[in-house]
Amino acid sequence: MSLLIRNGRVVTASDDYRADIYVEDDKVSLIGNSLDLQADEVIDASGKLVIPGGVDPHTHMDMPFGGTTSSDDFESGTRAAAFGGTTTIIDFAIQIKGNSTLEALETWHAKAEGKASIDYGFHMIVTDMEDKRLWEMRRLADEGVTSYKMFMAYPGVLYVDDGTLFRAMRKAGDDGTLVCMHAENGIVIDEIVKLALKEGKTSPKYHALTRPTRMEAEGVHRSIAIAEVAGVPVYIVHLSSADALEQVNLARKRGALVFAETCPQYLFLDIDYYDREGFEGAKYVMTPALRERWNQDELWRGLKFGDLQSISTDHCPFCFKDQKTLGIDDFSKIPNGAPGVENRLSLVYNGGVAAGRISVNRFVELTSTAAAKLFGLFPKKGTVAVGSDADIVIFDPERRETISVDNPCTHHMRVDYNAYEGIETQGFSETVISRGKVIVSNNEWHGSSGAGQFVKRGLFSGAN
Ligand code: URP
Ligand code: ZN
Ligand code: ZN
Repeated sequence: MSLLIRNGRVVTASDDYRADIYVEDDKVSLIGNSLDLQADEVIDASGKLVIPGGVDPHTHMDMPFGGTTSSDDFESGTRAAAFGGTTTIIDFAIQIKGNSTLEALETWHAKAEGKASIDYGFHMIVTDMEDKRLWEMRRLADEGVTSYKMFMAYPGVLYVDDGTLFRAMRKAGDDGTLVCMHAENGIVIDEIVKLALKEGKTSPKYHALTRPTRMEAEGVHRSIAIAEVAGVPVYIVHLSSADALEQVNLARKRGALVFAETCPQYLFLDIDYYDREGFEGAKYVMTPALRERWNQDELWRGLKFGDLQSISTDHCPFCFKDQKTLGIDDFSKIPNGAPGVENRLSLVYNGGVAAGRISVNRFVELTSTAAAKLFGLFPKKGTVAVGSDADIVIFDPERRETISVDNPCTHHMRVDYNAYEGIETQGFSETVISRGKVIVSNNEWHGSSGAGQFVKRGLFSGAN
């Protein structure tokens, strides 16, 4: 199979030029001007950007959490991701406390195989790590799982103590892998939550009011400090506040090897969303919580100047009617998480490039290249180059859409609301190509469940 993309404006993290792109089977095989070649399929990309498919390094498909399971599985979630221009996700497998991480990996392979329509990798959520199990971490790396996530939040569920953190971090550092941190002081937060509930404060807004940014900043500081001593690079996930970002910058100034991502929810939504009528605020119960609006400017600044490396979604959808209501009488029982895997590229292009905050190259870097490099996928993923996988998005920089659960162009996620409801965006993923095959064009689905492949990721290379 061959595919020729003509007349596009090819944008990578570093380049911006007009060219034709020739794809043979699943790889880009030639890039040049006015290529005189026949192809099985020809796409005219005049007036469009030709960018690498999005890499979302933080999703939770089919994830048991908060007494229920995230509503997108690998079939519905990867299809929705593709509609939004994302062609690779890195999802989180979860070790059951006391059980083998290798068993957890098998479980997540079974969830994804035959269902995913785009390529995927896994991080491993480590929930305990006795000495006798440390060898498993090297095995995971050999299996292509070269990053771990550990939680300072959610005591009694995913939380690990500092000893476990240090033990796992040391081994991860020895093995050349990367540690992702959910950095929030969950122990103190749980105390604040108990106090609030005792005072009858049960509505969704208290989710935010019981999780101060200082406790995120403390978690960021502590996790980086432990990682420095353990000798491992650390990647702070879903960083939400200026307070936390300051700790990343301070650590970097003293030479710590630290990276951080933020997510669209922290760039576009704010704490006032919890004041919505009735129980509506539950739609935005996610961890970390939404912050005061002024934090958004600080995060955008961090994205512009390189303090933050990547934008993931932390896609973890729960239906409002059937799942969020588990916490109707008690905010602490609302399943934590929100949808977003489909809307990332449009939101970031709109708020970033169209709003004049970041360049179009930086947009590509933040939504694709940086994650590919950090998580051992580059140059297979994360760029448009000869020899790379032909994961390509033909992106219309002018097309406007209003994001809505009712807009068939912006919502394919299996969840009964859209967190970005009513936001108008400029920039839309019109044609999406996964390993040389057009899987989305003009909002029509041409992909197939099971076509997505597990990608074995490389060790941490230090590149960014
Ligand atoms: O609220 C969130 N973020 N849910 C998903 C789990 C996590 O902490 O990433
Ligand atoms: Zn987290
Ligand atoms: Zn997450």
